[in-house]
Amino acid sequence: MIKLWIIFVTVTTINGLSRVHVKRQFTDPFLEPDSVVVDSYDDSILVRDPLSDWLSGLFPSTTKQPPLGDTPKDCKSCECGIPNDHTRIVGGMETKERLLPWMGLLTYNWRFYCGCTLITDRYALTAAHCLKGFQPRYIRVHLLEHDVKHLKNDTIRGVVGYKIHNQYDANTYNCDIALIKLDKPVEFKGPLRPVCLPDFKKSFTGMEGIVTGWGATRENGPLADKLQQVTVPIMSNQQCKESKYGANRITENMLCAGFQTGGKDSCQGDSGGPMHIVSGLGIYQQAGIVSWGQGCARPDYPGVYTRVNRFRSWIERNSADSCRCT
Ligand SMILES: *[C@@H]1O[C@H](CO)[C@@H](O)[C@H](O)[C@H]1NC(C)=O
Repeated sequence: MIKLWIIFVTVTTINGLSRVHVKRQFTDPFLEPDSVVVDSYDDSILVRDPLSDWLSGLFPSTTKQPPLGDTPKDCKSCECGIPNDHTRIVGGMETKERLLPWMGLLTYNWRFYCGCTLITDRYALTAAHCLKGFQPRYIRVHLLEHDVKHLKNDTIRGVVGYKIHNQYDANTYNCDIALIKLDKPVEFKGPLRPVCLPDFKKSFTGMEGIVTGWGATRENGPLADKLQQVTVPIMSNQQCKESKYGANRITENMLCAGFQTGGKDSCQGDSGGPMHIVSGLGIYQQAGIVSWGQGCARPDYPGVYTRVNRFRSWIERNSADSCRCT
């Protein structure tokens, strides 16, 4: 009973007593042991100890699963990053249902706590801080949902394992990235599609970042019921180092976005979800993963995201045993 409804993880920085808020919601499932749903998942293939999984850097595998690195032979061709409707929505508003069909949510013991995105037919991308210390058996990946208070439950997957980047640092949030392996692949038909990975080497500075999530709509506020979308300008890392965070806290693996005056930002509960950029052809690429920030939408404290294109090879290598779209 150590963690009781801890909403914010706080760390003390060398600059003084400023606090970093990870944008995750989490609860202790063991407060409610009776509500743990025991269903048809095969426990023998679940990771029991995330730490040893993380250390070994390997997914547990059953004989049925192809080994890491083996691309399945029966992948159909498919396209990533195409929204289901091209209507443009101005930031800070509810998104249309299933507009961005790769947008997923994670529940722990059936309780919403983080966002994620579908990147292949068998893997979801999220923040490392959404998984570290969490037991895979209580995590579910929910796709094609819009209202977190009224889940439709028509596309849910369990988790056979996850991989946290081995340089993830829980004190600085450097390399805040992880992959979740779904217990069975999804089919890319109907509205379901994965997001595109971002182009290598681009900084995305000056572009509009589109962030989606079910997180709080203001600092310390309640979670949003319906999927929200906010548009924020992406800054250069140099600009971000000159923000109130200071140069030491911003690494090359991070990307910052927000207005100097604050006002629009990702917030608690958005962690693990995407920041997209839209290419000229209207294709959505995931440039960032919601990671951390000082409060939400405060002036001179932009939102900080994991810079996904720094990890493109890592993602491709660790999801190679699944079908991707291009
Ligand atoms: C979806 O699952 C949740 C959690 O088990 C449940 O509360 C909810 O009523 C379900 N929704 C539907 C439409 O069955």
